[in-house]
Amino acid sequence: MSGTSLDGIDGVLSSSNKTLHAAFIAFPDALRAELLALQSPSENEIHREALAANQLTTLYAACVQQLLKDAGISADQVSAIGAHGQTIRHRPELGYTRQIINPALLAEVTDIDVISDFRHRDIAAGGQGAPLVPAFHQSVFGSATQTRVVANIGGISNISILRPDGQVTGYDTGPGNLLMDGWIHAQRGQQYDDSGQWAASGLVLPDLLVELMSEPYLALPAPKSTGRDLFNTAWLTQHLQHFGSAAPADVQATLTAFTARTLANAIQRDAPGAEAVYVCGGGAMNTYLMRLLQEKLACPVSDTGVLGVSPQHVEALAFAWLAERFCERLPGNLQSVTGARGPRLLGALYPA
Ligand SMILES: Nc1ncnc2c1ncn2[C@@H]1O[C@H](COP(=O)(O)OP(=O)(O)OP(=O)(O)O)[C@@H](O)[C@H]1O
Ligand SMILES: [Mg+2]
Repeated sequence: MSGTSLDGIDGVLSSSNKTLHAAFIAFPDALRAELLALQSPSENEIHREALAANQLTTLYAACVQQLLKDAGISADQVSAIGAHGQTIRHRPELGYTRQIINPALLAEVTDIDVISDFRHRDIAAGGQGAPLVPAFHQSVFGSATQTRVVANIGGISNISILRPDGQVTGYDTGPGNLLMDGWIHAQRGQQYDDSGQWAASGLVLPDLLVELMSEPYLALPAPKSTGRDLFNTAWLTQHLQHFGSAAPADVQATLTAFTARTLANAIQRDAPGAEAVYVCGGGAMNTYLMRLLQEKLACPVSDTGVLGVSPQHVEALAFAWLAERFCERLPGNLQSVTGARGPRLLGALYPA
């Protein structure tokens, strides 16, 4: 899995939804910059996209090799690789989404079956193609007695609302880490705000928060999904134009509050009876963000670690689960989440 934060590749070797081994490969700066550049229209995109996909695939393969080495197993002991690829555009309203990767190359290099392109079939069936993780969240974190919310805070945030009767809904709530990451990178050259310490040193700017909350996407009903297509540097620059004299740490505090507020509002609107919120994704490491989220919600907020799954492994496990669904010829999407016309088999196979 490599998500919208553009931090790198999270890999897991899993069996029956359990992590046996995990590996993380950070993107080299040049690849991260190119993947960011490919998020918006630019010169000679087809050629550059293909080269970036090949380079990314080499790192996916290195991640797989690392997992095999750590586990002391060989390629023929692995059923399949679920390879999400890197989203560079997500435009379900126009009938497409784009996760770049070269699955043929990954199959060639690893000699393992590769399942890729998980989102298109759902979009072809009229769905958003995202989020795809709620079905997995239900299978691992669902409860027969409690309404639970799983909040994945990656680059973008998404929630899964898991009801005791098995009903599942969910959608992308808006930004996760990407605005905070972008701001600290622009101001201080850091990849992310460790534990939210810089944000915690600032003060939330109420007027800026109101301005950010005016984004129309936030009020849209589900199904909905979003990405860097909307929440990007241009979006932030536009909203900051009247706040040129604000202290950078105060902007960081406000961006963190914005992520917390949008998540909390979505949970209050669509899961008012939630009895527990479990956070996964890198945002779970942002102590300040977690504190703000807890302050805004009446029910306890913790990370998925308390349910036995490290927050950093959840999304990668979900794509292993989706690959397993494909191998068993079972649907991976949920109509109640993506709005597709029906359950669909997700993915395409590139055999070893
Ligand atoms: N110690 C930390 N303190 C604060 N933030 C952190 C910390 N560690 C990671 N993060 C944040 O988590 C991000 C990575 O999260 P993650 O890998 O879950 O996102 P992602 O790649 O966008 O995944 P996805 O799109 O699948 O949800 C980093 O970019 C950073 O913002
Ligand atoms: Mg990541």
